Amino acid sequence: MLTPDSSAVTPEAAVGVARPVPGHPDSHRVMVATSLGSAYPVEVGPGVLRRLPELLSERARAHRYVVIGDKQVMEFHAHRLQVLLDGAGLRVDSVEFPEGEEHKTRTEWARLTDTLLKLGVGRDGCVLALGGGVTGDLAGFVAATYMRGVPVVQLPTSLVAMVDSSVGGKTGVDVPAGKNLVGAFHPPRFVLADTDLAQTLPRAERSQGLVEAVKHGAIADRGYLARIQELAPRLLAGEETPTAQVVIRSVEIKAGVVSRDEREGGLRQVLNFGHTLGHALEAASGYRLPHGTAVAMGMVLEARLGERLGVTRRGTARQLEAAARALDVPTIPPAGLPLERALDHLKRDKKVRGGEVRFVLLDEPGQVHRGEVGSEAWSHPVPAGVVREVLQASTNADD
Ligand SMILES: NC(=O)c1ccc[n+]([C@@H]2O[C@H](COP(=O)([O-])OP(=O)(O)OC[C@H]3O[C@@H](n4cnc5c(N)ncnc54)[C@H](O)[C@@H]3O)[C@@H](O)[C@H]2O)c1
Ligand SMILES: [Zn+2]
Repeated sequence: MLTPDSSAVTPEAAVGVARPVPGHPDSHRVMVATSLGSAYPVEVGPGVLRRLPELLSERARAHRYVVIGDKQVMEFHAHRLQVLLDGAGLRVDSVEFPEGEEHKTRTEWARLTDTLLKLGVGRDGCVLALGGGVTGDLAGFVAATYMRGVPVVQLPTSLVAMVDSSVGGKTGVDVPAGKNLVGAFHPPRFVLADTDLAQTLPRAERSQGLVEAVKHGAIADRGYLARIQELAPRLLAGEETPTAQVVIRSVEIKAGVVSRDEREGGLRQVLNFGHTLGHALEAASGYRLPHGTAVAMGMVLEARLGERLGVTRRGTARQLEAAARALDVPTIPPAGLPLERALDHLKRDKKVRGGEVRFVLLDEPGQVHRGEVGSEAWSHPVPAGVVREVLQASTNADD
């Protein structure tokens, strides 16, 4: 079901299938199709950033380029990028913003677009988003809206960004009413995921990012789920080869999904596995629970929902728990977390219809449960009482 779609062949390659980049044995390329019928490559590998000038000239020719990144990432990596682009004779400016989710805002969007205006960047400019998911979303949204849209290239530096947020074209900012509520679809011209750049990523951020990879295994590839667990110590230590392998497989899975449903009409919902309860727990904690941790808890709980309903094979929740633990990510909501607040949040969730919250459920690890045909097929209504029971049982689970 979520196997690579070899029927959707672009001129360059089947979408969602990694192929070695000719002449660059360490790099792999995965094509992603957009809803407009075009396709863009995601190239992954150690040192793949070196290919930036060549790919800019092939796919994102511009009069000038603006690198947008948060202060922390720019301190680590902006110099390298500048040298590379200067060496290619390209005109480049760099613009920074303070790091952290709290800066993924309309205020920062306004400041960045004003800066581009002040620099005199025109319609023929191109944004290079260098950083984690916050940068990709914010700089992507700047590009989506600046002069009604200029091209963006995603240069992810965190594992969240490499395995997840740089692929799929969603950009946007958080607003007081909720996260990611204002934004645009703006697919990049291409993505370069240079796994060398993740070397400077703190271990805790590595754990958080790998939770999204666990999600990819859970929805699409049981063997991959097991591999992440097995490789966990090496992944957490930042080892190059396993990191590149994981980024490649996750990009394949995400590309396979978003290529078939960029706008979340149906299939793309499967990427929400673990996120319905995850978001509720995150919100109930006042956003003190990190996103990856909340999603790990959400995946385990949603697997338990499925097990309780007789949809999901017994033992699935335990397997997800083991994978998260291997990544040093807790899976039991902390004592004192206001579960009523989480349940209230669920009621307001976008996916509520007719009073019942809909969940993506698994048949077993690696396989999403498929319901009726049509756009409803990927998520299933779960009675509120069952959700409450599973959530309440989770905080005093000692197994
Ligand atoms: N667009 C999408 O489809 C999508 C999907 C998933 C997540 N997201 C968004 O992604 C964001 C989370 O992404 P994130 O965890 O990467 O957050 P982030 O961009 O804030 O990065 C996390 C931290 O790591 C630092 N960092 C990043 N790369 C580094 C590196 N190589 N070396 C050292 N430090 C580095 C950053 O400065 C930051 O402090 C959220 O806003 C979420 O909504 C978007
Ligand atoms: Zn997520």
